[in-house]
Amino acid sequence: MNIIVTGAGRGIGFELVKKLSSNFDNKIYAISRNLDQIEALGATNIMQFSMDFTSETFKEKVDMLVEEIDSVDIIINNAGYLVNKPFSEIDLNDLQNSYQVNVFAPFLLIQAAKPKMKAGSHVVNISSMGGFQGSAKFPGLSAYSSSKAAIANLTEILAEELKEEGIKVNCLALGAVQTEMLEEAFPGYQAPITPDEMAKFITQFALNGGDYFNGKILPVSLSTP
Ligand SMILES: NC(=O)c1ccc[n+]([C@@H]2O[C@H](COP(=O)([O-])OP(=O)(O)OC[C@H]3O[C@@H](n4cnc5c(N)ncnc54)[C@H](OP(=O)(O)O)[C@@H]3O)[C@@H](O)[C@H]2O)c1
Repeated sequence: MNIIVTGAGRGIGFELVKKLSSNFDNKIYAISRNLDQIEALGATNIMQFSMDFTSETFKEKVDMLVEEIDSVDIIINNAGYLVNKPFSEIDLNDLQNSYQVNVFAPFLLIQAAKPKMKAGSHVVNISSMGGFQGSAKFPGLSAYSSSKAAIANLTEILAEELKEEGIKVNCLALGAVQTEMLEEAFPGYQAPITPDEMAKFITQFALNGGDYFNGKILPVSLSTP
């Protein structure tokens, strides 16, 4: 299978790449800004693509990447940007970065890859409980949570638009996972699950979930109700 994973450089994305690449039938297209950890794995079935989703050239780079791939079986839109600031302090730059990484990049990546996807292909968008309607909300996350709600909604509309072609699109709304993102945003907070454990679930879901779900926003959370 040809599998694109964004946010592959650290946290959940890195663990996803490790798991998916352990099956040598899989070819992993790993996207991140920092690929040092991926490089250190030394796996021959991992293709590395250095990309900053906030840069002006990112759309061209996405198109170049997709051109190199014959077919795309799975996309895991895992890259995420979190800014934790009171609403009155969020500036345009914070908003632009949040929406660029959390919404525009997955939108444009799916759009570019779509011609290479066939019936049975699966897009997994990684959202957050913060972007899940009716969940508990956390002050400081107005840019982040609203952008995560947007990717959840995009999931539903794409599932509808792509259903005739048999392409499945689902969204996982994660609860707290002990990653650098969480530690940077909420120092000292202890999450009930490790990146490795979360990646185990996402890997299985990405491989099999498309057979059972389409257009679904599924909470995957031991923390936020
Ligand atoms: N951890 C949690 O508690 C939690 C809860 C709910 C949802 N999530 C979601 O789960 C996903 C993974 O998060 P994580 O906790 O593993 O976070 P993380 O450790 O901070 O990893 C985020 C990844 O996103 C990539 N990224 C960020 N900005 C980017 C940019 N401008 N261009 C390209 N890539 C960029 C980073 O890549 P580089 O640094 O290599 O560029 C990094 O690999 C995110 O979508 C996050 O919102 C996490």
